[in-house]
Amino acid sequence: MDARDMGQDLEKVLFTKEQIDEKLTELAARIDDYYGNRSILVVGVLRGAVMVVADLVRKIHAPVAMDWMAVSSYGSGTKSSGVVRILKDLDTDVTDREVLIVEDIIDSGLTLSWLLANLQSRGAKSVDILALLRKPDAAKVDVPVKYVGFEIPNKFVVGYGLDYAEKYRNLRGVGVLAPHVYQ
Ligand code: PRP
Repeated sequence: MDARDMGQDLEKVLFTKEQIDEKLTELAARIDDYYGNRSILVVGVLRGAVMVVADLVRKIHAPVAMDWMAVSSYGSGTKSSGVVRILKDLDTDVTDREVLIVEDIIDSGLTLSWLLANLQSRGAKSVDILALLRKPDAAKVDVPVKYVGFEIPNKFVVGYGLDYAEKYRNLRGVGVLAPHVYQ
């Protein structure tokens, strides 16, 4: 799906697929510089991070293992509760592994701050974070993110894995959803 398929539902394109690709190339080069030939366990957070993981890992030269977690942010409570529930856990034992968590977006930071602590507590050798997008104005907790693609304004964004009510994940780029869609 591209911008014109969304018609009036897309307020603005923030990043085209080319811009995202260029950014991921940059981040993959930094990752290669850091890890050299050591093997990395990439942990993608379902479902939004699927596109980022798929495109990123193919640009990395170091050996990459992939695993996935699904978490429900904020259990039954509101976004601010910070309660995270594991819906699908890793199949991999992370003991002594160098883990790179890959996310599509950091909003409040609550999901990642929980996930970081969780994976660290399992005895990983290192846990770093990559997020394609970060909304600095929405941060409720400070998460140490080593690799950030783009900082974005506090708007409802969709595409490249990000959804609104499960729609628009297959938009090639990232854009701002028109308010009439959710108001
Ligand atoms: C999104 C995103 C992060 C989380 C970020 O996932 O992928 O996991 O929200 O928000 P936070 O920084 O405020 O915790 P979502 O719960 O929408 O699930 P999805 O990836 O399946 O769409």
